[in-house]
Amino acid sequence: MNKAKKYKVEIIDKRVFCVKTLSELHAICFHGNGKEYWSDNAFRVLLGTKGTIGFSAVANDGCLLGFVIGRSVMDESEVLTLCVSPTARRKGIAKNLMLKLIKRLSASDRILLEVAASNDCALALYESLGFKQLGLRPAYYKKGNSRIDALILEL
Ligand SMILES: CC(C)(COP(=O)(O)OP(=O)(O)OC[C@H]1O[C@@H](n2cnc3c(N)ncnc32)[C@H](O)[C@@H]1OP(=O)(O)O)[C@@H](O)C(=O)NCCC(=O)NCCS
Repeated sequence: MNKAKKYKVEIIDKRVFCVKTLSELHAICFHGNGKEYWSDNAFRVLLGTKGTIGFSAVANDGCLLGFVIGRSVMDESEVLTLCVSPTARRKGIAKNLMLKLIKRLSASDRILLEVAASNDCALALYESLGFKQLGLRPAYYKKGNSRIDALILEL
C-alpha cells in the first residue's frame, strides 16, 4: 500500500463497528509493549461514555487499518489510544487520525496523552504534531520483568 491507497476516516459508531474488531487490532498493535489490551467490553463501555470520540481508518475493502480514541472532560481532553495495523504503517494513517481527533477536540484548553518513553515511533509522531513533554510517571508500564517510564505529553 502506498500513500495514495484509498481509505476513509470516519467517526467510530459502535452501533456500526464491531467492538471485537477494535479489540483484535488493539491486541495486535500493543502485543508485548507493556500496555494492557482492552477487551471488547472495555471498548463498548468506553465508546458509550459521554465525551468519548473515536475515528477509524477503513480501507476500501472494509478492513480496519487503524483507529484513535479520545475523551473530553470539562476543558481538558485526552488521547486514550491510537493504533495502526502493522501492515499499514508509515503511510501517514496515524497522523491523519490524530489530526482529525485534534481538530475535534480543539475547544479544549489542552490535550494530554501518555506514551511509553521507549516508544520512539509514537514519540516522533506526537512531536511532529506539536506535543511537548509535561511530566513523567516513573516505571509506569510493565514490560516482561522490567518497568518503563510513561511520558505525559501536552498539546
Ligand atoms: C505509533 C503508530 C500509531 C504510528 O502509526 P503510523 O500510521 O505508522 O504513523 P504515520 O505513518 O502516521 O507516521 C507519522 C510520523 O510518525 C513518525 N513515525 C511513525 N512510525 C515511525 C517509525 N517506525 N520510526 C520512526 N518514526 C516513525 C514519523 O515522524 C512519521 O512521519 P514520516 O513518515 O513522515 O517520517 C503505530 O506504529 C502503532 O500502531 N504502534 C503500536 C501502538 C502504539 O504504539 N500506539 C501509540 C501508543 S501511545
